[in-house]
Parts: sequence; C-alpha cells; structure tokens
Amino acid sequence: MNDMSALHSIIPSAPPPLEELDLARIRADFPILRQRVHDKPLVYLDNAASVQKPRAVIDAVSECYSSYYANIHRGVHLLSERSTAAYEGAREKVRAFLNAASAQEIIFTRGATESINLVASSFGGQTVKAGDEILITGMEHHSNIVPWQLLCERTGAKLKAAPFTDAGELILEEYERLLDSGPVKLVAFVHLSNALGTLNPAKLMIDLAHARGIPVLVDGAQSIPHLAVDVRELDCDFYAFSAHKIYGPSGVGVLYGKKALLDAMPPYQGGGDMISLVTFEKTEYADLPNKFEAGTPNIAGVIGLGAALDWVNAIGLERIAAHEHTLLDYATARLNEIPGLRIMGTARDKAALAAFTMDGIHPHDIGTILDREGVAVRAGHHCAQPVMQHYGVPATARASFAVYNTRDEVDVLVAALWKVKEMFEL
Ligand code: ALA
Repeated sequence: MNDMSALHSIIPSAPPPLEELDLARIRADFPILRQRVHDKPLVYLDNAASVQKPRAVIDAVSECYSSYYANIHRGVHLLSERSTAAYEGAREKVRAFLNAASAQEIIFTRGATESINLVASSFGGQTVKAGDEILITGMEHHSNIVPWQLLCERTGAKLKAAPFTDAGELILEEYERLLDSGPVKLVAFVHLSNALGTLNPAKLMIDLAHARGIPVLVDGAQSIPHLAVDVRELDCDFYAFSAHKIYGPSGVGVLYGKKALLDAMPPYQGGGDMISLVTFEKTEYADLPNKFEAGTPNIAGVIGLGAALDWVNAIGLERIAAHEHTLLDYATARLNEIPGLRIMGTARDKAALAAFTMDGIHPHDIGTILDREGVAVRAGHHCAQPVMQHYGVPATARASFAVYNTRDEVDVLVAALWKVKEMFEL
C-alpha cells in the first residue's frame, strides 16, 4: 500500500453529487410524476405539504395487504408473525435512521402532530403546573403551538415564543433571555420551518436549554427528508416526524423519546396492546414502546415507512440535501429576477423551499394560475399564521423541493410566474 492509498482509506470521500446520478431513474420510481395536468407535464413543487411516493413504498404497502397482512403482537399464526416481524423491522429501521440508542425509544403515531400531542398530554400533564412556562419560537407550525396552548389552558401554565428577524432567523439572545425569564419546563421548536425554510441551530438551542436543565422537543416534520438527523448527537429529548414527508405513507408518524423520560411518562391513550394486565381494579401497562401504542396501528403504513427509509438510504440523505440545495439556490436567483416578487425567509441556513408574495397578486391567484401551467405549489398560511402575522400578509405562495425535482422544473415555475405577472399587468 503506498502513502496515497493509505490516506484515501482513512479520509472518507465526499458523496458524488446527485446530478451525476441518474435523476431520470429516480423520477421513474414515482408513477404519479408521469402524468399531465391541464394537458401540461406535472411539475410537483408542493413537497413540504406532502411528498410523492416511490414504487418501493407503494409495493411494500401493497405486498403487506396482498400477502401477509394480519394484526400484530397478538396472533399465534404465521401471518401475524410475519406482520409483527415486518412492523418491528420498520421500528428498527427508524431507530437506525435516527441513530437512537434503542428501538424502545421509537413510538409509532399518526404523524408529527400526534407525536407532539402525546408529549404535551403525557409529559406535559405530568410535569407542567400553574405558573410554569413552555418556550417555543415564533416560526412554529400550528401543530407545535396549539397542543401547548391546550396544555396551558388545562394547567394554568404560560406559552412564550422566541422572536425571529425579518430574514427569518431566530434571535438567539431573545431565546436565551426567555429561557431565563421564568420557570420553563419544556422547549419545543421547529428544526426546519415549513413557512420560511429556516434551519434552526438545533444543537446550540438544545445545549442552551440543557445548561438550564430544561428538556427539548424538536419538531422534525420538515427536516427529516432534507438532512441527516442523529438524535444522540443532537441530544434532543424528543424528536417528532411524519412518514408522509419522507416518501412514506400518510397517517404514520414517529415520536423518538429518551428512554428514561418515556419510562417515567404515563400512557397517552388506553386500549389494547399497551397493557400487560387488566383487571377492573387496576391496569398494569406494557413496557416501551407498546405503552404508547394503544390499539391496532397503521401496520401497512409503518411497513411502508420502513421501505421509504430504505429508499432514501439507497440514495443517501447527503446527496439528496446537496441536490435540493443546488435547486434552491438556482430557484432563489431566478425568482429574484421577477420584479415585485418578495421571498419570505432569507435565513443564511435555509433548505428546501421558497415562499414568496408578488405585489398586487393574491397568493391563491398565483397558485391557481400556476396549476393551469401544470405547476403544483401551496398557497395559504401554511398552518403557520403567526409567521404570516410577522410579515403582515395573509398568505404566501410556496414552492418546495424534493429529490426528484429538476432545474428544468424550476424554469417552468419561473416562466409560469412571469405569465402570472403579465396577466395581472393587463
Ligand atoms: N405542514 C404542511 C405544509 O407545510 C401541511 O404544507
């Protein structure tokens, strides 16, 4: 072995950029992308709302129902054993994907929303008392606001929100000040804002909270498909995400929680599969993770999530992120060429989406005209009304990217926006 090859064996090489891979092959994995809408090729740029599904996920769900579906954890028969093995196999895939210490720390839910409600109800109900505080940020999705408001209404606690700048960046000094300005019992913040694209400095925010003994929940609904998450490196106490944002089925989500915390928390819902013994006098609960999985879950959906993670791993999140970053940079430059178009959210650390307004044109009109050009975007408040209030607008239009999007599609979007502008200037 010469010196050079010794060096190469210890320095990992950067993954090849996705452009060098066969983007056409990736797109071919998505049957839905082949269609035309309004007689135009579909340009799907509503990925932050929900991403499309590759054939591997569709097949995994279909295969479950067509060849081995049965209820899990209950039957002594072969199909139940196979379904249980596939379901628990998916849990192990999620554990590995997040680098959690144990599969017991992975709870399946209906989505990130239910994961956050679970923590608010169980951890919050146990820990938060009148006069306590919950700290979030001003750029949260409603699913990371309303569960805490409900908790505050029940307990007499107070909800505080750390503000952000016009660029969409969290004001860290204010975050620190709010950590110290009252008895904060939990911090809950969005990793990647669905309305602005801001990537929050999660590790720093967690360390600042932990230095004060405050546990942290990270809302990973948007970050999960765009950047590699290592819950042990982040050291977050809870991390919530939805399968449908990472190429998996809708109606399935994950709550990661540190085992010691989950062990100490009471059940969220009661029912089958979460008990070890029931009498009319008293019920003993099952161990983790079953304690938090009452009732028959979305078995095929969970198995579909496992297939989605395999599909993502086969490409590599780093390559996906690099590709999306290139698209975002290109889209930002092209959008900024359009007079009167204003991008909301220009944080230095940003990913995956561009939200914007156009002078004198309602975002719903933008969305409707783009649709006629085959371009699917979301127009509205993006379930983040406080963000809209910050900018004094009722809504924005939002183009959001996934691994299968191309520069050509950005060009179609931009051409369609010029058309929107021309139509309103007549
Ligand atoms: N939270 C989803 C979005 O950003 C629905 O569109």
